[in-house]
Order: sequence, then structure tokens, then C-alpha cells
Amino acid sequence: MTDLELLEEAKKARKMAYVPYSKYKVGAALMTKSGKVIHGCNIENAAYTPCNCAERTAFFKAVSEGIYDFCKIAVVGGFEEADIDALCTPCGVCRQVMQEFCNSKEFEIIMYDGAKVKTMKLEELLPFGFGPDNLK
Ligand code: THU
Repeated sequence: MTDLELLEEAKKARKMAYVPYSKYKVGAALMTKSGKVIHGCNIENAAYTPCNCAERTAFFKAVSEGIYDFCKIAVVGGFEEADIDALCTPCGVCRQVMQEFCNSKEFEIIMYDGAKVKTMKLEELLPFGFGPDNLK
């Protein structure tokens, strides 16, 4: 699957976003090395703190099914009915969750600003990250 196709999967996932508070809908499509795609959306909560980002929804769905061989994730976000016109970059907490399960030199984050695709390695988004290797 191409990066553009994975972004299309993220757009599909975004339709399921539950965002009564921010109205900002995010979709993620997490791809495994064998080509499986796991979808995630953001899920908000009246108490705010339990809000879950789209990226973490996708990771936690996968891990809960025993899937760990991740190679890339596509992320798209924007206000409810508006067109996507800016990059939605993963928040710090989601970057840390990626660090837990992915090789930061290899794992790619694919983003879209409505016109151009931007791809970055996790290592670029979270330099000097603290991860499982630090506890070995
Ligand atoms: N959000 C995500 O789902 N992923 C990101 O990468 C950034 C932010 C969500 C959290 C919240 O539901 C809404 O976007 C506004 O912050």
C-alpha cells in the first residue's frame, strides 16, 4: 500500500472521531510490516483527561490483539466539516507510545496538509527519546 493510500485509510478512520468538545477530528491508519492496517480515531470525554488521540487508539487496538510489527502510521486531522488544511502532527504522548513499540530510526509518520504529504521518521519527531532500551 502506498503512503497516499494509507492517508486515505486515515481519512476513513477520521469519520469515526468522537469529538463533541474540540470538534477537531483526527484519523490514523497504522500499518504493519505484513501490510495489515489498523484504524484509530480520537475519542473525547466530558471529563477531558480521558481523551484519547487517534494514534493511540490505533496502537492500543493493535497491541490488544497481539500485533506489534509496525512500520508506519498515517495521520490526518482538522475541524469537523472543514477541509484538511494543516498538518496534524502527533502529540508528545503519542510520540512516546510510538517509541515504546517502534524502531524510531525506521518507523515513519505520514502527514498531510491538504496539498502535500510530509513524511518523518519517529527519531526526527522525538529525538533522544526514552524507551525500552533505556531499561535494559
Ligand atoms: N488529537 C489527536 O487525536 N491526535 C493528534 O495527533 C493531536 C490531537 C486529538 C486530541 C483531541 O481529541 C483533539 O485532537 C484536539 O486536541
